[in-house]
Amino acid sequence: ETTLGAAAAQSGRYFGAAVAAGRLGDSQYTTILNREFNSITAENEMKWDATEPSRGTFTFGGADRIANHARANGKRLRGHTLVWHSQLPTWVRDIRDAATLRSVMNNHITTVATRYRGQIDSWDVVNEAFADGTTQLRPSVFRDVLGSGFIEEAFRTARAADPAAKLCYNDYSVEDWNAAKTQGMYALVRDFKARGVPIDCVGFQAHFGSGGPPATFQTTLTNFAALGVDVQITELDIAGAPTTGYANTVRACLNVPRCTGITVWGIRDSDSWRSGENPLLFDRSGNKKPAYDAVLSVLNGG
Ligand code: G3I
Repeated sequence: ETTLGAAAAQSGRYFGAAVAAGRLGDSQYTTILNREFNSITAENEMKWDATEPSRGTFTFGGADRIANHARANGKRLRGHTLVWHSQLPTWVRDIRDAATLRSVMNNHITTVATRYRGQIDSWDVVNEAFADGTTQLRPSVFRDVLGSGFIEEAFRTARAADPAAKLCYNDYSVEDWNAAKTQGMYALVRDFKARGVPIDCVGFQAHFGSGGPPATFQTTLTNFAALGVDVQITELDIAGAPTTGYANTVRACLNVPRCTGITVWGIRDSDSWRSGENPLLFDRSGNKKPAYDAVLSVLNGG
């Protein structure tokens, strides 16, 4: 196959990109998007600050543009993200009363997930809840006011709102099996599966340094999959876009049957949140980089 999406589809997987609604008018950008990728994640447009900037006032302009582009072009759509401590409006951050915050959180999840019901393959229900370097949850208004049970509550509410969507927990720096954060996330998923809390997938963001994925990455994917969840690479980018790092990351996914797809976090280097590191598969002129060829070759079985 000659495109990333078609090559990934040979093994039933998707190959997606994070998309910014504001760039959909750039024809070079949409040409690459439409040709190469068969899944889309909204880079910012489905986050809380974009969708509910003030309490009970929902604004779906950017999110709808992305969802419409996906539908019109036959792309799958990942939902990102319902509950996250960042890009969270201050009106939520300032709530100190548990009953109020519980109602606000559940109303947000229900309203956003219901609007896109039937269109989302996988939702990142909760994003980045673990603290760096530990097995514990990070401080946030959700943890501090509702306690650690906020994650379970969010997943139950999301399931009720969109029963067909796969529900993921998504985080970064959880790719190394030996990292404390990975072990904390593993304990959470194991506990959810044991108690019947609805979780279907784990997203590994995979924002890597120039060394690429840790040597244990495939082991990590395998061990999570063994708990009975799908695993996905949700925000891949690698400083300098080394061919080996990209090839190893894609190979790790292909070697794990329950690794269902890969998303890169942007299209051209100029679109990246870390654009100074040139971490993506296309350069600023929209040309394929060596890392693109390496990824395509691995997807094609090379
Ligand atoms: O919305 C404002 C806009 O009104 C204003 O004109 C503009 C001027 O700077 O800023 C806009 O907000 C920016 C937003 O992106 C939308 O472009 C924020 O300043 C900027 O901080 C924000 O960055 C995003 C970042 O998440 C925020 O945490 C990045 O684009 C996005 O790539 C990044 O994505 C995250 C994932 O969601 C979760 N995992 C980590 C990943 C990388 O940080």
